[in-house]
Amino acid sequence: MGIGEPLARIDGPLKVTGSASYTADLRAPNMLHAVFVTAPLPAGKVIAIDSSDALAEPGVFSVLTHHDMPQSKTAIAGPPFAHSFLPLQDEEIRHEGQPIAIVLGETLEAAAAGAEKVNVSIAPAIARIPVAPLWSNVDRIALPPKNTGYFYLEPEFAKGEADRTLALATQHVEAVYSQPPRHHNPMEPSAVLAQWEGDALTLYASTQHVYALRMGLAALFGIPSERVRVISKHTGGAFGVKGLLWPQEALAALAAKIVQRPVRVVLSRADMYSFLGYQPRIVQKVGVGSDDKGVLAAITHHVVNLTTVTDDFIEFATEASKSLYATPSMLLSQRAERAHVAMPTAMRAPGEGPGMWALESAMDELAVKLGIDPLDLRLINYAETEPSTGAPWSSKKLREAYEEGARLFGWRERAGSPRRDGDWIIGQGMASCFMGTFRFPSRARIVLRRDATAVIETGTQDIGTGIPTIFPQIASDVLGLAASRIELRLGDTELPEAGPTYGSSSTMGVGAAVLAAAQEVRDRLARLANLPPDEATMLDGRIGRIGATETQSVGEVMQRAGETEIAGLGIFDPTQHGTGYAMRTFGAVFVEVGVDPALGLLRLRRAVGSYSVGRIVNPRTARSQLLGGIVWGWGMAAMEQSAFEPTLGRFLSKNLAGVAIPVNADIPSEITVHFVDEIDEKAGPIGGKGIGELGATGVAAAVANAVFHATGKRIRDLPITPDKLIG
Ligand code: MOS
Repeated sequence: MGIGEPLARIDGPLKVTGSASYTADLRAPNMLHAVFVTAPLPAGKVIAIDSSDALAEPGVFSVLTHHDMPQSKTAIAGPPFAHSFLPLQDEEIRHEGQPIAIVLGETLEAAAAGAEKVNVSIAPAIARIPVAPLWSNVDRIALPPKNTGYFYLEPEFAKGEADRTLALATQHVEAVYSQPPRHHNPMEPSAVLAQWEGDALTLYASTQHVYALRMGLAALFGIPSERVRVISKHTGGAFGVKGLLWPQEALAALAAKIVQRPVRVVLSRADMYSFLGYQPRIVQKVGVGSDDKGVLAAITHHVVNLTTVTDDFIEFATEASKSLYATPSMLLSQRAERAHVAMPTAMRAPGEGPGMWALESAMDELAVKLGIDPLDLRLINYAETEPSTGAPWSSKKLREAYEEGARLFGWRERAGSPRRDGDWIIGQGMASCFMGTFRFPSRARIVLRRDATAVIETGTQDIGTGIPTIFPQIASDVLGLAASRIELRLGDTELPEAGPTYGSSSTMGVGAAVLAAAQEVRDRLARLANLPPDEATMLDGRIGRIGATETQSVGEVMQRAGETEIAGLGIFDPTQHGTGYAMRTFGAVFVEVGVDPALGLLRLRRAVGSYSVGRIVNPRTARSQLLGGIVWGWGMAAMEQSAFEPTLGRFLSKNLAGVAIPVNADIPSEITVHFVDEIDEKAGPIGGKGIGELGATGVAAAVANAVFHATGKRIRDLPITPDKLIG
């Protein structure tokens, strides 16, 4: 079954039976387990570390501190490093939870027991931890320098005179929207197994980018990248927190080098809350102004997020306002405020996820003020070209997405005032969905064998999105083989280099390379079969001329030619596709919520997401991606916050027991995911764009808008918890 078929996940049985090997399942002979001792305070200096009690614990092999580490001469700044300092290089404490010692044990239990007994003396310093809302500080926050890690965009954008226009607009709304820090909480905590053979390193890791780890580690150790091999067979969820090189990956490799034994680190959930990335606290001020008919005159959008004392992570939320609506003027700015906190990072639907919460709430406020249906307000301001540059879209069927979604939901039947259902007040709200498109150069190799089976080899990663199913599907059409006859080998830097698994980019990039590799294999087989390649077609393990009844089996052709296998290399180069076009993904989400005003409860009753994303390779796995996005958005809207305790400078609850995230019981069965019929020929040969993150945008605003519809309360601070709804 090829492109367009709703094939069930090929990797499903492997994963649900527990037979898929994750990094924490791997062991190497003579392996040591590492547990980190982390800083208990947000700022200060390590004066002394006494390891004697720890070393007395049975099974503890050694305790490593900054005195044991080779001093890195590598300039660690920007990708692939998550931040610009490496822990255990000096005595400085830059945030609570920073690793300050590594305990190595023969068992995990021994290492953990040892870590409890390491005695650390610290000279505390005064920590910079803002307690006041970030917005009050915006005027004294400097523009960020250009070392912002993950990706960098211009922090300022202006078109026309938005400030003046906004003030003069007949109707305008200006409001501040805020959200707390949130963690990614993947099911599988980050894990790494580092193993040296001479000066060659093999590193198994739970990651979104094996090549990033290879590049960073080669630089760190000053060895050629060919001497670093990174392997990642399955990554158990990531959402952005495994996109860069984080401390445990460098420290495991360093520790393994020092003790000359393999070292495995499986982070605890507390570690994930101590020194890995998260989405920081973000405060946004959005202004939208229009005439009486709702035609936008200006959009202003100013964003501040918290960052570390060492690096300027920027949450580019203004991206939403830059490109969604046609407006003659706009003024956008990004700021970061430094504090003694751990390094934030991109989190599922970075930029637009937070940005759409603010923009789409403000648009709803404007619609209410104007007395215009919120959907009509969006249609009135539909951007026929990209608003900040005027570039044509590679494809855009947002109008269809709005209309088809509205029909599926019954939006036009929405009553002016809310309905009641027993104790519940029922409200309905909607928002646009909008996400950037990222494409990365990628390569894939396909080998076809005489028995009409094939293997795809590409150095991408499986983070759970469905690529073990859709890549064989893509090759299946061209090679005329059932997807089940095509094996996918991935997650290894020895394979043809593929891009990172983030930015919803895999189908467009790696998928296109797979398609090109399959075409190359078919062409080569055609030549062996004395067929003109552009007239050859393959079906059921046979090749023939298009339209002809006479065919030859793959095995016969290869045997006659004396070949045991035929290989093809496919390359996707994004610079060869869609130059000059603006490329985004679009959609609309409609939600119905119930509010119990006496108890302050908020429940999702049903949702419809309708999306314009180009061609869908597999409607079933694609639906799961968007469904996951809606659930993710519900978490943002109604549940998730990583409570930060300013007096301690730490996240309060470093475990899942103290953090509310959606579970099955929170999600109604009535969630509809709809795709408009579309092929984006500019984005790449697959005709599809990204889907993984789009579904997470817009939802929080749609929920807040539905809450307003139900209760008349405009909630501008997430999550929408009972305290904000009661009374
Ligand atoms: Mo994502 S935040 O692009 O992994």
